[in-house]
Amino acid sequence: MKHQLCIVLDFGGQYNQLIARRVRECGVYCEILSCNTPIEEIKALNPSGIIFTGGPNSVYDESSPHIPREIFGLGIPILGICYGCQLMAYTLGGQVESCTKSEYGKIEISSVNDSLLFREIPQKSVVWMSHTDYISHIPDGFAVSAYSPDCPCAAMENYEKKLYAVQFHPEVTHSEYGKQMLRNFLFEVCGFCGDWIVDDYIENTVAALRKKIGNKKVVLGLSGGVDSSVAAGLLSRAVGNQLTCVFVDQGLMRKDEGDFVEETFTRLFDMNFIRVNCRMQFLDKLKGVTDPEEKRKIIGTEFYRVFWDKIRQEGDGGFFAQGTIYPDRIESGRGNESGKDSTATIKTHHNQVGVPEDISFDGIIEPLADLFKDEVRMVGEKLGIPRELVWRQPFPGPGLGVRIIGEITEEKIRILQDADAVFRDEISKSGIESELKQFFAVLPDVRTVGVMGDHRTYEHLIALRAVTTDDFMTCDWARIPFDVLERVSSRITNEVPDVNRVVYDITSKPPATVEWE
Ligand code: XMP
Repeated sequence: MKHQLCIVLDFGGQYNQLIARRVRECGVYCEILSCNTPIEEIKALNPSGIIFTGGPNSVYDESSPHIPREIFGLGIPILGICYGCQLMAYTLGGQVESCTKSEYGKIEISSVNDSLLFREIPQKSVVWMSHTDYISHIPDGFAVSAYSPDCPCAAMENYEKKLYAVQFHPEVTHSEYGKQMLRNFLFEVCGFCGDWIVDDYIENTVAALRKKIGNKKVVLGLSGGVDSSVAAGLLSRAVGNQLTCVFVDQGLMRKDEGDFVEETFTRLFDMNFIRVNCRMQFLDKLKGVTDPEEKRKIIGTEFYRVFWDKIRQEGDGGFFAQGTIYPDRIESGRGNESGKDSTATIKTHHNQVGVPEDISFDGIIEPLADLFKDEVRMVGEKLGIPRELVWRQPFPGPGLGVRIIGEITEEKIRILQDADAVFRDEISKSGIESELKQFFAVLPDVRTVGVMGDHRTYEHLIALRAVTTDDFMTCDWARIPFDVLERVSSRITNEVPDVNRVVYDITSKPPATVEWE
């Protein structure tokens, strides 16, 4: 499974993962490493190209991250972006100063020579700038290759040494030819051949999994989410019914979702599928609990208790698999562990849960640990996993438990599942589904007065939530057309017993969060 490697050296910029994803989209495998990685380690990985990311610092600040000058003499092509560009200039003897006028946003640049970096790009093009320092003197041996009205060096290069640097951000879509610039660096400057191909990935991973697992068994916790579903698909292709998937259904999934997951995996894939139905057990634990964090804790603890009990019953040994993906690895500080056995931890939303001491496995398998989410989805589609699973919206681990405000009861789960199913159905029919990143119904702990025929009613209120976002760090409430909202409201109040009012949440994040709890 050896691919040519591009290293993205992370100097703390907000777009580091985006740079890596763009490189992968070009068919080049890349890994993100900390800017403190020793040069010897970088050399040992034998990269064919290195990209320095941006970062929030100023190169003159003593505490800001620096890099030994030696890296520029290794003969490996380097592209510096924003802070990475200034760092290259500063380290090689150029001068960086504070801008008299910072540049932020879309700026037109002009290229001045026939640089490889600007090949097949118009001489004037729009790029995304965000900087308060600029290069006032370029280092010896370099030439300016682009400028903007306020930035005399928007790009510079040393052709012989294959060192390139851009003050702007080619990785963001606002830079109209950014992707072509990255392609030019990767293919024209570094000479990558583009050997990162999803079909090959599946074939190679399946072969490697077969070799590693041999005739042992593998267990995987299947949540019905994208990552564990695709991991299950890959493992099933590799070792068939040596794989056992354990699906803990706590009764807090969307309407009929547990049945859909079971039906999909038992029909489409060769594996042992164990569904543990424990709705009543969870409801019992949650009786009388209203505090959101306590509910989360109970649901999480109970989930793993049931899961590990099932594993104990099945007998331990063999391998333990999980759907860890590349961003999980980076976020948990295990960015440079590709292919190595990792410690026995289970991925959850915000933390990692250890395997209990009395359970032992021969090893941990993470077949998706090198992939970004969009690559996981591509693999899932190629494996024939239904689109409903592969393109599933994010769904919180505690499920509907954090969408029922106050105490969780069987009746409230039924009301919320029915209302949510109507909302999903109408959005799917409306043709706007692809514009919404996440949408769902919430059951606040509120009853309101209504009127039905000649009768006064006092029933539940349903809130609808729908957001658009790039990264879920900030979100905007979705402008769903009124006629769609009207149909949803009318159907919910007519079809879902015990609901007499529907409201739409028009708050962005911040100040609100996506979920209500
Ligand atoms: P918030 O509500 O924090 O949500 O704006 C951001 C994204 O994270 C999801 N989310 C969770 N996912 N366990 C999860 O697995 C959780 O406890 C949890 N809380 C929020 C949420 O659905 C949204 O996509």
